[in-house]
Amino acid sequence: MKILDGKKISNQIKDEIAVEVEQIKSKGEKVPHLAAVLVGNDGASLTYVGSKVRSCKKIGFESTLIHLPEDTSEEELLRQVQALNDNPEIDGYIVQLPLPKHIDEQKVLMAVDPDKDVDGFHPTNFGKMALDMESFIPATPFGIMELLRRYDVETSGKHTVVIGRSHIVGRPISILMSQKGKAADSTVTITHSRTKDIKALTLQADIIVSALGVPNFLKADMVKEDVVIIDVGITRVPDESRERGYYITGDVDFEGVGKKASFITPVPGGVGPMTIAMLLKNTLLARERHQSRKA
Ligand code: GUN
Repeated sequence: MKILDGKKISNQIKDEIAVEVEQIKSKGEKVPHLAAVLVGNDGASLTYVGSKVRSCKKIGFESTLIHLPEDTSEEELLRQVQALNDNPEIDGYIVQLPLPKHIDEQKVLMAVDPDKDVDGFHPTNFGKMALDMESFIPATPFGIMELLRRYDVETSGKHTVVIGRSHIVGRPISILMSQKGKAADSTVTITHSRTKDIKALTLQADIIVSALGVPNFLKADMVKEDVVIIDVGITRVPDESRERGYYITGDVDFEGVGKKASFITPVPGGVGPMTIAMLLKNTLLARERHQSRKA
């Protein structure tokens, strides 16, 4: 069993980006600038956004955090989004999800300028991605692909079973892995809550991408020998014995499944850190595209 070490690879990617930022600075050009909009005080969202902003500082990006109260109106949020669209200093930004229930998430995501949509959630980017056109690929699936590429995991002609059909992970990764190219050319089955006999499918899988958010869902008797496991689940399980009051776990019974797997991502330290690295990569790409359009 080999660990797909997302922490190590994400640090490599961040180091590579930091070198590019140094070159940009030495030429006196504009440094990439990422903004994040956070509405409310959801614990996990605060952690993710904090981590994104810290990573920006570490690699030399400019960053702006717009933290709005929980009761912010949809109108006010749309005004903030428009201001970010209009601000030439901002290369890319994200609106952290989930948004409070009184705000129409789709309406907000539709208002983001596709050229600044470094999350790749706007229909223009999602459509371009599905059609193999230049776009922004959502950071989590982008991170999974990069991890598979950098560990040279064979995916061509393999059967990949994706668990979960979310717009952020399950849906895009199933499109990307069925496309042509490295870490792709896979035969993909997408499964979800209405799938009958999921075990019959996971037992046929060469690669399993689990993005369900149910701890211990995937157990050893559901996978075959030498399977490749990508665990996208991040669940906070309450635990009074820990200082933080919880621990983080994925969808996979790591002990049991790990014994059969050829490659496996740990949680934490697998897909999570890759997501942040690829968001930074998308921001660097956004800056390059803006600069080349101005030239
Ligand atoms: N919430 C959970 N994952 C993500 C993500 O990748 N981007 C944003 N904006 N919100 C999220």
